Amino acid sequence: MLKTSAAGLNPIPKKREYGRTLIKKRRNSVLTENFYKNRKSEVWMSHQDCVTKLPNNFYTVASSKSSKYAILEHKNKSIFGIQFHPEVSHTNRGIILLKNFVFKICNAKKNWGTLNYKNNIIENLRKISKSEKIICGLSGGVDSSVTALVLSKAVKKNLTCIIVDTGLMRKNEFKNLYKIFKNKYKINVKLVNESILFLTKLKNVTEPEKKRKIIGKLFVKIFERESKKIKGVKYLAQGTLYPDVIESKSVTGSGTSKIKSHHNVGGLPKKMNLKLVEPLKDLFKDEVRSLGSSLGLDKKILYRHPFPGPGLAIRILGKITPEKIRILREADNIFMNELKKYKLYHKIWQAYAALLPVKTVGVMGDTRTYEHTCLLRAVTSKDGMTADHFYFPKNFLDNISNKIINNVIGINRVVYDITSKPPGTIELE
Ligand code: XMP
Repeated sequence: MLKTSAAGLNPIPKKREYGRTLIKKRRNSVLTENFYKNRKSEVWMSHQDCVTKLPNNFYTVASSKSSKYAILEHKNKSIFGIQFHPEVSHTNRGIILLKNFVFKICNAKKNWGTLNYKNNIIENLRKISKSEKIICGLSGGVDSSVTALVLSKAVKKNLTCIIVDTGLMRKNEFKNLYKIFKNKYKINVKLVNESILFLTKLKNVTEPEKKRKIIGKLFVKIFERESKKIKGVKYLAQGTLYPDVIESKSVTGSGTSKIKSHHNVGGLPKKMNLKLVEPLKDLFKDEVRSLGSSLGLDKKILYRHPFPGPGLAIRILGKITPEKIRILREADNIFMNELKKYKLYHKIWQAYAALLPVKTVGVMGDTRTYEHTCLLRAVTSKDGMTADHFYFPKNFLDNISNKIINNVIGINRVVYDITSKPPGTIELE
């Protein structure tokens, strides 16, 4: 039984529990085999509502200090209830619990692997596009690159990839991308420069969701315009992943609240002339990388840190100007080069520089400065759903701060973000 408000909509935040919590074993259960150490296990709680009464025929398997019924089990049916999040990496042995459920309780067979979903995706794409043409937005990130490659395996002659230069990409972003896809993979690629359009539409816009929506709409407008130039285009393919879908809307119709509009899902207009194809929408990042590897994707692209569709627009907090883009590009480029030089890049799931909407006073030589603040973010994660900040060796942070301030005119302060996800998100907007 869940405690909810009178209208039944918003749970009363009575037994709120948040963060790492110890739960204690009360009874044996197949679900919790090998889950405890000394009858205890650390789990991630994140709830405002709670089970207040044990339903008929259920017993308690484990409890925490605040949640008496942290795990429940039916007396004679395979029905379980858990109050915490076994799926996040902060639940230390959550994977054991999930494996027990899938293999020991549901008796599922382990037949979900790269080859399996690769063949399913290719087969489905061939069913969708027998003769109709598909255009695919290609940004050079892992997701869109794998989307383009899997499409080319399935329906190469029907595919055109469009690279849109939004003016919001990182330094040297498009260098080689066009060449790799055109020459190495022999895919039909078109490069469109729309940086002035993007910057004009984003002028003076500060609200993060508004930025995302504007960018999403512009992408669709450009893709629709480009599609009219090619006869028989019916579909627009995008590299949407499962976490993007979860965070953009409630996929299951459940109470998952919207966190942000990922430009390739929540940012799309309701009415669109092209039908959407999202071949990766059931996959997590590690599965996408494994699919990309099996398709022979260039390693430089395959192991790049994720980069969001709206690009630097959501890493320049507040108003976006060409000058701020220049400053951020330089800082981010220095950060990436240093990470590679110190062999830290591949130890980190995602790292980037952002520009905060604050200026602070500093002193350089004999001169007073009043310049921008650069925020550095570097996180470890398995799938982007949860993340922890990366522990840099102290010297690295000293060096990078000096290097950015000395080389980028317009920045006089560097800060490092140590917020985990949750409560933060990986991006700032
Ligand atoms: P957050 O900020 O939600 O990010 O913790 C999780 C992962 O998703 C990426 N991200 C995006 N990717 N379009 C994308 O293709 C988007 O609009 C978008 N917003 C966030 C983010 O970089 C991180 O890897």
